[in-house]
Amino acid sequence: MHFWKVTMASALQNRVNRAPKVASALLCFFFFFFFLFSSRSSRVSAQSSSAVFACDVDKNPNLASFGFCDKSLGVNQRVSDLVKRLTLQEKITFLVNAAGSVSRLGIPKYEWWSEALHGVSYVGPGTHFSNVVPGATSFPQVILTAATFNASLFETIGKVVSTEARAMYNVGLAGLTFWSPNINIFRDPRWGRGQETPGEDPLLSSKYAAGYVKGLQQTDGGNPNGLKVAACCKHYTAYDLDNWKGVDRYHFNAVVTKQDMDDTFQPPFKSCVIDGNVASVMCSYNQVNGKPTCADPDLLQGVVRGEWKLNGYIVSDCDSVEVLFNDQHYTKTPEEAAAVSIMAGLDLNCGSFLGKHTEAAVKGGLVTETAIDNAISNNFATLIRLGFFDGDPSKQLYGKLGPKDVCTPEHQELAREAARQGIVLLKNTAGSLPLSPTAIKSLAVIGPNANVTKTMIGNYEGTPCKYTTPLQGLAASVSTTYSPGCANVACGTAQVDDAKKAAASADATVLVVGADQSIEAESRDRITLSLPGQQSLLITEVAKASKGPVILVIMSGGGFDISFAKSDDKVTSILWVGYPGEAGGAAIADVIFGSYNPSGRLPMTWYPEAYVDKVPMTNMNMRPDPATGYPGRTYRFYTGETVYAFGDGLSYSKVNHHLIQAPKLVSIPLEEKHVCRTSKCKSLDLVDKQSCENLAFDIHLRVKNEGKVSGSHTVFLFSSPPSVHNSPQKHLLGFEKVFLGAQSESLVKFKVDVCKDLSVVDELGSRKVALGRHVLHVGDLKHTLSVRI
Ligand SMILES: *[C@@H]1O[C@H](CO)[C@@H](O)[C@H](O)[C@H]1NC(C)=O
Ligand SMILES: *[C@@H]1O[C@H](CO)[C@@H](O)[C@H](O)[C@H]1NC(C)=O
Repeated sequence: MHFWKVTMASALQNRVNRAPKVASALLCFFFFFFFLFSSRSSRVSAQSSSAVFACDVDKNPNLASFGFCDKSLGVNQRVSDLVKRLTLQEKITFLVNAAGSVSRLGIPKYEWWSEALHGVSYVGPGTHFSNVVPGATSFPQVILTAATFNASLFETIGKVVSTEARAMYNVGLAGLTFWSPNINIFRDPRWGRGQETPGEDPLLSSKYAAGYVKGLQQTDGGNPNGLKVAACCKHYTAYDLDNWKGVDRYHFNAVVTKQDMDDTFQPPFKSCVIDGNVASVMCSYNQVNGKPTCADPDLLQGVVRGEWKLNGYIVSDCDSVEVLFNDQHYTKTPEEAAAVSIMAGLDLNCGSFLGKHTEAAVKGGLVTETAIDNAISNNFATLIRLGFFDGDPSKQLYGKLGPKDVCTPEHQELAREAARQGIVLLKNTAGSLPLSPTAIKSLAVIGPNANVTKTMIGNYEGTPCKYTTPLQGLAASVSTTYSPGCANVACGTAQVDDAKKAAASADATVLVVGADQSIEAESRDRITLSLPGQQSLLITEVAKASKGPVILVIMSGGGFDISFAKSDDKVTSILWVGYPGEAGGAAIADVIFGSYNPSGRLPMTWYPEAYVDKVPMTNMNMRPDPATGYPGRTYRFYTGETVYAFGDGLSYSKVNHHLIQAPKLVSIPLEEKHVCRTSKCKSLDLVDKQSCENLAFDIHLRVKNEGKVSGSHTVFLFSSPPSVHNSPQKHLLGFEKVFLGAQSESLVKFKVDVCKDLSVVDELGSRKVALGRHVLHVGDLKHTLSVRI
């Protein structure tokens, strides 16, 4: 049980639902509450009031003679100077998140674990709120930000979050290393952590990862290798099951084909490392094809460090190394577990396992001291890039940031702006939305999520600056009557009478229902896609009794089967609002009263309930299997009916697309002796890169807002490749969000790269250009393009 004492912090967020034996369960229960209690008090008590940093030459002038403190030297020189001064025992203390201190070298303790998924978070022991900084701006949960399809917004939010993070670091309330974002593909609607991700599409996830990471790390501040804060893309890889019907992430072996790996699970990580230049990647708990990811040299050394050239450190999930030993029994001894993960490429262990077992592993000859040196070198290099070894941070680039830079009016306005840009209008009968704030004199506001606060910020949250609940947002414009309708989202018994009365006498009704962390969360996958408890009954009864239009608002991370409401004429509008963040209620009101024209689009498919009967969550296959009736996953492969589709979303205007320019034919020049000149090929290997490299063309579109209100509109360019290599039925090549005035138009251009965009991944995981007919789709437009040699 010693493990639980030392890594209590990971116990709360990450280990709550492990299935321990009864005796240990009781002990854990005790420690869990012990931790809750102590963490509560530490959240409000004042921590040290200044930043933690090394090389404090003002206090100790002797430090100036150390090479690792010398800012004029390169990162690698400073790192090797530092490493050679450490004993083995000291080195090992730098392999864990609660890193050690070496007072003779002026190195204080450093806590690596902070989180900033959608705002600076109190999850992770590295960050605290106090009376100095009581809260930070809480942006919408990521799934809603993804729904904005506004790539510049992803980066803008990242910049604001890192400004607040640095400000908190400067007053000793936060670290510099944040284990965000979560960019796993939202493969299955039941996944409790889907809310944390940018959805089901590899391109959107890739853009989100690169954008958010660039914003957080903001290397444009001066030193191109410097970091404002260090981001971390997680959880590498093929991790998207938490706890489903007795299968949990600590024991799950994700069986993934090479093809699905390379065209679904890996692209966001690749983009995060290559395009985002992220400073860290976190390996997951699960196994992939029989190997724990944190002990897989092909995935870590081979791909992340070798192929993608990570400039940074690889960290384990909390506490993956212990999990691969204790839960997965992957090695016989703890020393072997330590050795295999370090040799696979792991640099830092969230948890304490490597701190305990690495020395014996080195002494037993299982891993070399050089391997330890490499690992801690990656960790130190990151800290050096963050300025941690540059002495007093108040004299450096971000030194002026402080509490005044947290929760500024601009930051809070951006949280509201992000929420309204993400909100998706799924149904709108003529005459329903937007409601006129002058014609509507009274509003019935009903439902278990109608006046919620914390629900709006989802998980990996921090203390927000303040909340505007949906009721408060709506009440700012008209007079309201509130009736929760259910005691909570579980809605065991709906109290319909009061709610019906309110709806019958109001000019319009807004029903706010959906989920919260008791329904979908870390360690909590769903088993049904239906709305919880009697929520459907509440909706149907209230709609029937309503005098005016009925606006159904679904607050959730994952999608629901709401076919009953979609087809109910009394439900005149449906909005999905994700978990909309601290300003969610204000943003909902902006959309409902038409001061913002909705522009969000679904970043994931909404399936009917029948889906969960046909598809075990444990089946990782993306592609359908006609032999078994398995329907496949996500809009790229799923062949069945949907409730709402990826990319769905209406606005208060009507937008038309006109194709202005697109080629009908693309010929790929091949050498005379190429095999495909003589025999018929379905596709071209990208090994012959020169054949398609630099081969690109533009697609020009005219996009016109035919409506009377201005608004933003996302143009999606999809392609259906020829059906070779089990290719996706359709995939997103690009998206562009444009603002369109009423009755005005805009030109949108996409550059299509032949190697990259017209290729598919074959059964063995190689990228190939598909030859034949590619159908490009933009809205209702279809354009056929022939790719030949
Ligand atoms: C709505 O929630 C807010 C914040 O928790 C609370 O102050 C207020 O009393 C609630 N309103 C009603 C009508 O329950
Ligand atoms: C994208 O988001 C930014 C806010 O960062 C906003 O100013 C811009 O208008 C948005 N783009 C569109 C087309 O809506």
